[in-house]
Amino acid sequence: MEFRKYYIVKKIGQGTFSEVYEVKERETGEHFALKLFSPMSNSGANAKNKFLYGAKVAQKIKDENIISVFEISSERKAVFYVMELIDGCRLRDAIADKSLKNIKLLLDIMVSVASGVNAIHKAGFIHRDMKPENILLTQEKRVKIIDFGLAVPRKNFFWNNFNVSGSPSYISPDQILNKRVDERCDIYSIGIIFYEMVTGNVPFTGSSKEEVYRLHINSRSLPKPLSRSNDKNIDKLENIILKCLNKDKSKRYPSAGFVIRDLNYVKSLY
Ligand SMILES: Nc1ncnc2c1ncn2[C@@H]1O[C@H](COP(=O)(O)OP(=O)(O)OP(=O)(O)O)[C@@H](O)[C@H]1O
Ligand SMILES: [Mg+2]
Repeated sequence: MEFRKYYIVKKIGQGTFSEVYEVKERETGEHFALKLFSPMSNSGANAKNKFLYGAKVAQKIKDENIISVFEISSERKAVFYVMELIDGCRLRDAIADKSLKNIKLLLDIMVSVASGVNAIHKAGFIHRDMKPENILLTQEKRVKIIDFGLAVPRKNFFWNNFNVSGSPSYISPDQILNKRVDERCDIYSIGIIFYEMVTGNVPFTGSSKEEVYRLHINSRSLPKPLSRSNDKNIDKLENIILKCLNKDKSKRYPSAGFVIRDLNYVKSLY
């Protein structure tokens, strides 16, 4: 099927208000990923604005760990953006199929995730939806962060939206408590992702989202210790993860740059 200057090759993703397709540019034969806004009756004008804002944020951040956005269309009948196509898998899939067993590979991916997040913050934004579904891995296991649909500007942003958005397993206590959000909410979320990369499971689970929220907030609910047999350095990685996961954001890393520094130190021990 044709769409503008592209052929649609196949559908590769389905979102709440969007679909993602692999497309081929007719003139050049190059393949891209095209994310099409496909509103539902209840999506409202806000959903379209957030979609386009997310595309613009991703386009502004030029970093090897952030997806490259090449074209944004805001025409009334065709709201979409075109990005580089990642031929690989989601970090979600790599965690599920246990293909990340090697600790050096795990640490490399963690450093790349933290570097991408650092680039987002340096560009002046907060992602607010860091989770393994929104991290793609190329076949060479390089990291590309996608999906800036919840991104907000970093400066002067007060959390005044009473719908808590973001995935319950990865959301920070600050977001749940409707507090002012800053870059440390992403640092909390990558702490959850790192914990899951090592153990295969997120630290806080429950039968409802309210129950999961309570575990994020409650100062007595602490993640189960990491354990990897015969790994004498795992406690050092655990300290980094626990510092990202502090309920009190003033005790987390103040910036992703320090997460990278400490991860690189642990990397040097292997
Ligand atoms: N550039 C890309 N290359 C390859 N696959 C992609 C790319 N972008 C998205 N995908 C696939 O499509 C899925 C959905 O994309 P994305 O996370 O951007 O939207 P969403 O979370 O489903 O939608 P939204 O949060 O906007 O409702 C991803 O999890 C991934 O599998
Ligand atoms: Mg997504």
